[in-house]
Amino acid sequence: MATKKIPVHKLKVGMFVEELDRHWLDSPFWFHKKKIKDQKDVDEFIKSGIKTIIINTDKGIDIEEESILDQQEKDHLSEKTKIPQLTYEESVFTDPVPFTEELPRAKEIKNNVSNVVKNIFNDVRMGKAIELNDVKTQVNGIVECVFRNRDALLCLANLKDYDNYTFVHSVNICILSVSFARHLNLPKTHLEHIGLGALLHDLGKTQIPESILNKPGKYTPEEYNIMKGHVGLGVEILRKHDNIPAEAMMVVLQHHERYNGCGYPQKLYGDKIDLIGQIAGISDVYDAITYDRVYHKALSCHSAVKRLYEWNDTLFNRLLIEKFIQCIGIYPVGSFVELNTGHRGLVISVNHQILLRPKVLVLFEGDKRLDSPFSIDPAIEDDEKCNFKYSIERELDPEDYEVNINQYLDRFKTT
Ligand SMILES: [Fe+2]
Repeated sequence: MATKKIPVHKLKVGMFVEELDRHWLDSPFWFHKKKIKDQKDVDEFIKSGIKTIIINTDKGIDIEEESILDQQEKDHLSEKTKIPQLTYEESVFTDPVPFTEELPRAKEIKNNVSNVVKNIFNDVRMGKAIELNDVKTQVNGIVECVFRNRDALLCLANLKDYDNYTFVHSVNICILSVSFARHLNLPKTHLEHIGLGALLHDLGKTQIPESILNKPGKYTPEEYNIMKGHVGLGVEILRKHDNIPAEAMMVVLQHHERYNGCGYPQKLYGDKIDLIGQIAGISDVYDAITYDRVYHKALSCHSAVKRLYEWNDTLFNRLLIEKFIQCIGIYPVGSFVELNTGHRGLVISVNHQILLRPKVLVLFEGDKRLDSPFSIDPAIEDDEKCNFKYSIERELDPEDYEVNINQYLDRFKTT
């Protein structure tokens, strides 16, 4: 029996419904299997709230091929993306430069990259070509920064800038994807290519009408289809440029594919999604759920990590989710936390072997705000019985304590 899982809005007259995304008893339909006879049948499915349907293509018509990539483009892409399946290993390494020393440089790099991305989006909107050499130089700067210290740029990616979401999100995905790929011990040249793709991953949105892009409410199925087209449009824009590495193309093409096959545009599932596509997808979702969107309220980074973990083996590969959490931590850099001793402060370094014991810059002793913050490393400091002296009790909202994290980070100046 040949079956395909399709979103409900792709249901057409002549298709044969084999299964729903829920038990039949939980649906308004009394039948188990059904051939779609007319538009009324289609409308009933859409109105029912069912999201996905499995169709039997032996008993009814098949879904039309995705129109965003014609055959010629598909051939071209498969040729360009013919890269060996990457493998990844446990990576244990130490950072050559301390967080506090790297942070000012990381800030400068992030600011420069944000400006470059803004210019690229504006240029593409006006039909101009992308100055690829400039972009590659910026991405290489990010890669070098991550190699000097893994936490400096991650900390900045975790501090949310609520203006210019598209640009900031692109830079954050670049930082997260490069950091994750570094954690997986992928070769440096791959990191540069992944970073380039991540920076440009949503370039296709420049071709989506503003009325849809900035719509305050939920999308209709038609609008959602137009929005999903940004992947194909992004691929088309990059195809007009020479020297786009295959790995970068892969990021753009696959960043919305999901492990259980519910993503788009190709509805790939499992390891049919390239490792690079999975890295980009996890990074994209982690960053997106930490912003207020129409569909959800912003989560803190710590809550976003927990949410990602709930999605292992559904939206994402379990092993990769575990690796991602190992990379960014359970309490990611930039989290505001309380210790068992009542100290409150800022996570400034993740211990990648003991995730629950990140290094903390203490800003409060009890309720007393300190003039001179100091750091505590819960992974190495013991009490008199040789037990861990410090542990993280909980995450706090910095706003409740009138803590401006940026202000504290500004104390670290270039030496
Ligand atoms: Fe996207």
